[in-house]
Amino acid sequence: MRTIAIINQKGGCGKTTVAINLASCLAAHGKKTLLVDMDSQSHCAVGLAVPEEQIEQSIYDVLISNARGEPIRLAEVLWQISESFELAPASIDLAAFDQQMIGVVDREESLKHVLDKVGNDYDYAVIDCPPAVGLLTFNAIRAASDVIVPVETGYFSLHGLSKQLDTLSVLCKQCSQQINVMVLASMYDIRTKMGREILGELRKQFSDKMFKTTVNFNTKLKEAASLGQPISEYDPSSKGHKDFESLAEELIGTDTQTRRAEMVGTLQSKLDKISASAEELLSNIKTPQPQKIAKADTMGQVTPQEAPEAATVGQKVAQTAAATPEKTIDEKIADFYGVRQLEDSVMFVTLYPRASSVQIAGDFNNWQPDGTPLKKVGTNGAWQIKLPMNKGKYRYRLVVDGQWQQDPYNEATESNPYGELNSVLEVH
Ligand SMILES: Nc1ncnc2c1ncn2[C@@H]1O[C@H](COP(=O)(O)OP(=O)(O)OP(=O)(O)O)[C@@H](O)[C@H]1O
Ligand SMILES: [Mg+2]
Repeated sequence: MRTIAIINQKGGCGKTTVAINLASCLAAHGKKTLLVDMDSQSHCAVGLAVPEEQIEQSIYDVLISNARGEPIRLAEVLWQISESFELAPASIDLAAFDQQMIGVVDREESLKHVLDKVGNDYDYAVIDCPPAVGLLTFNAIRAASDVIVPVETGYFSLHGLSKQLDTLSVLCKQCSQQINVMVLASMYDIRTKMGREILGELRKQFSDKMFKTTVNFNTKLKEAASLGQPISEYDPSSKGHKDFESLAEELIGTDTQTRRAEMVGTLQSKLDKISASAEELLSNIKTPQPQKIAKADTMGQVTPQEAPEAATVGQKVAQTAAATPEKTIDEKIADFYGVRQLEDSVMFVTLYPRASSVQIAGDFNNWQPDGTPLKKVGTNGAWQIKLPMNKGKYRYRLVVDGQWQQDPYNEATESNPYGELNSVLEVH
């Protein structure tokens, strides 16, 4: 059995989508496939229409009962999804797993012991991991022959990536098995300049450690998940399904090859290298968002007529600008993403190609987004607003189609009382 752990400590980068749809495509190829949900959010069950209220026992019970010496067999908690596809669902108890296992010998090998027992029953096990590095993720790594790191092709995912690879490297230090770690570009939106640029850099840096297949952003994948179906059932003609077909084939193609797995020493140094590359990549690509926003030259709205020339952009973008002076309007706007202080106001520019409304709410408008809608500019899906602001420190969030979120182009954040992050800016 080949055991593939889907890992990235960054939330929402597509782990569960990859886990469900890869498992389902492997099964459609006649491979007996087990999907193991190690995330207490139980999203695999939700995404496969397994009624949560009817899950009496989960992978948690199997792991805990094994640790306590009265093992429940894995087969007792499985749900059949299709002919060759079974799910070991998660449950909320997994959130207490780390605590419950304190003092248990070999507690990081619990999942490995359980999966070893069914190694002859399946061709593949796919493990969906939580967005955190803890005992659950460590268990997945210890059980894995392969790790897939889905990387959303956006600026902040690169931050996550470098941290993630550092952590993987540390965890692998403690393992003795061979693991093949591969990066998978996910939620790729070819229409955005940042997406294209990041994908290019990822390919350059990771080369043979990256899947040829890219999982594109495809709303059918979102719809399929919300209806509890894998994409192969929901819309087999969709681009989303083609991408997962291609990923499954790419993976199956390496079944018989000598795996590119390395012993831990080599793997570790490789991960260290990749992690350093991710940092470098980040510094090449990023549009710096200083903690305190810098005073820019007087600059009005970012309009086609007066698109910014003096944008404080990252090295790479700046060099590109010098080499190719005729930037498109969209590229000029892209140089501006984030927050920027003007003479007596602040300009917010962000990118949401699929949104139909973007508003801003902060302590400067009593957290009332309705009166401050951003305006769509350019053709790429950029949005902007210029707000008069006095000196001071402000917190804000963007409201995108009614959903509150932090500004993806402003690194400065602060936790809010709801356990989420507010974006922060300081006007001098
Ligand atoms: N390729 C894609 N195209 C469109 N939507 C996607 C794609 N991949 C994921 N999504 C959507 O993005 C959201 C987050 O995806 P998903 O749940 O797979 O991420 P995750 O990494 O498992 O999140 P978490 O860290 O919370 O477990 C979901 O609404 C999902 O439907
Ligand atoms: Mg998930």
